[in-house]
Amino acid sequence: MPPSNATDVFDYVVFGATGDLTMRKLLPALYHRFRDGQISDRARIIGAARSPLSGDEFRGRAESALRRFVKPDALDDDLVRRFVAMVFYCSVNGAEAESSWDTLTRLFGDTEQDRIRVFYLATSPDLYGRICGNLSGHGLITDTTRVVLEKPIGHDLESARAINDEVGRYFEEQRIFRIDHYLGKETVQNLIALRFANPVFERLWSADAIDHVQITAAETVGVEGRGDYYDHSGALRDMIQNHLLQVLCLVAMEPPGSLGADDLRNEKLKVLHALKPITAADVPHVAVRGQYGRGLVGQEIVPAYLEELGEGRQSDTETFVAIRAEVHSWRWGKVPFYLRSGKRLPSKVSEIVVQFRETPWSIFASKLEPNRLIIRLQPEEGIQLSIMNKDPGPDGMVLRQANIDVSFEKAFSTRYPDAYERLLMDTVRGDPVLFMRRDEVEAAWTWVEPILKAWQDKPGSLHHYGAGSWGPAAAHDLISATGHAWHEEMG
Ligand code: BG6
Repeated sequence: MPPSNATDVFDYVVFGATGDLTMRKLLPALYHRFRDGQISDRARIIGAARSPLSGDEFRGRAESALRRFVKPDALDDDLVRRFVAMVFYCSVNGAEAESSWDTLTRLFGDTEQDRIRVFYLATSPDLYGRICGNLSGHGLITDTTRVVLEKPIGHDLESARAINDEVGRYFEEQRIFRIDHYLGKETVQNLIALRFANPVFERLWSADAIDHVQITAAETVGVEGRGDYYDHSGALRDMIQNHLLQVLCLVAMEPPGSLGADDLRNEKLKVLHALKPITAADVPHVAVRGQYGRGLVGQEIVPAYLEELGEGRQSDTETFVAIRAEVHSWRWGKVPFYLRSGKRLPSKVSEIVVQFRETPWSIFASKLEPNRLIIRLQPEEGIQLSIMNKDPGPDGMVLRQANIDVSFEKAFSTRYPDAYERLLMDTVRGDPVLFMRRDEVEAAWTWVEPILKAWQDKPGSLHHYGAGSWGPAAAHDLISATGHAWHEEMG
């Protein structure tokens, strides 16, 4: 018996199939879902890319990817063999309406017309419109076809609008799945449960009780062979415009009327619209950008960003960003939301720190630390609430901070599925709740664009930091200017 969450039989076509994302994330995610019985052996996974590979060559790459990126305890030779037998390859130039499309079209010739089709576009975003035009021109869009757009959707507001317009010519909005893999992370979805299933937090969730919020996504890795993409993007476009703003929306939004896709996305959109606009004059005071130089990360001396790009390359692309944002609403008033993301930082951690206000008056001689709720998105997923306690002992009322600590691994003893597992299955089911609607993407670009522009006009605003540090000193100054400190600097 297939499990109750089994999906209908589908054809999943990935454009950009020879790229890192397909090998590292998409194929392993599909394998895990297959392993759990959610995908039938009759489904097909069709890689599409320009390289002239044979089906066997691509299957060989797919198998190596599974052996490399799936944990050994989840690998089973028979399952891998069955999975790889579902994989096909088609050499096609997505952007040109040439005869290579006939091969792809033929692959669909004999299949049932009501079979679900998903076209996942993991190419450069400027090809999205042309690929969709070709899908339509070759009669490949059926009533049960959906398209998935990998981020980034464009380079700025104008290019995002152009892509959305072009794709929208061939697909209605409810069939366009704009992916932001942070929304597929269990711990990010858990924010909805934490806030709206636990009145104890929601009663305190406003400027009345909250002093400030920090959202950090720190990475130890550098640009890892993605220099060409990254150098045109930078941390603001790569992480803040999408992942961190989406997390901020879930932290700051009002309770949605239901968990329906539009109820949730309407509330997120209101947060994006309520973000205080940052003008060019504000940028030096509320936003910091940095680029890493050579340094020690863990035990390893790693090269500078410019060295990673290649000899003789110059660039003022930022690999670190810190921003002070405000959500101008009745709930949040002037509560600062500090957003921070960077590469080559000392540890990999994505977390939200909610710091509560201090007691209005203290009857204790000991210094009181404010309560903090720390939501660890990854790794060591969990929640901590720091509270002040009496230090046990005969020395009178001496206070000490300790944590109420929930480790999800211990509490639920289950494997954390990769974000893509949930999201890919949602695209098959046609459930858009964890995907970005067009207006959200455009509102996010509207907010970040003045920052991008101000930095472009002032290349001298780039600060340098050593790999293995927590970013440039200017990031420390940014937060201390308002009397706060980054989590790792707190007592
Ligand atoms: C991607 C970015 O969207 O997210 C990468 O393009 C980044 O540069 C990655 O490394 C981080 O994802 P995660 O899930 O490891 O936090």
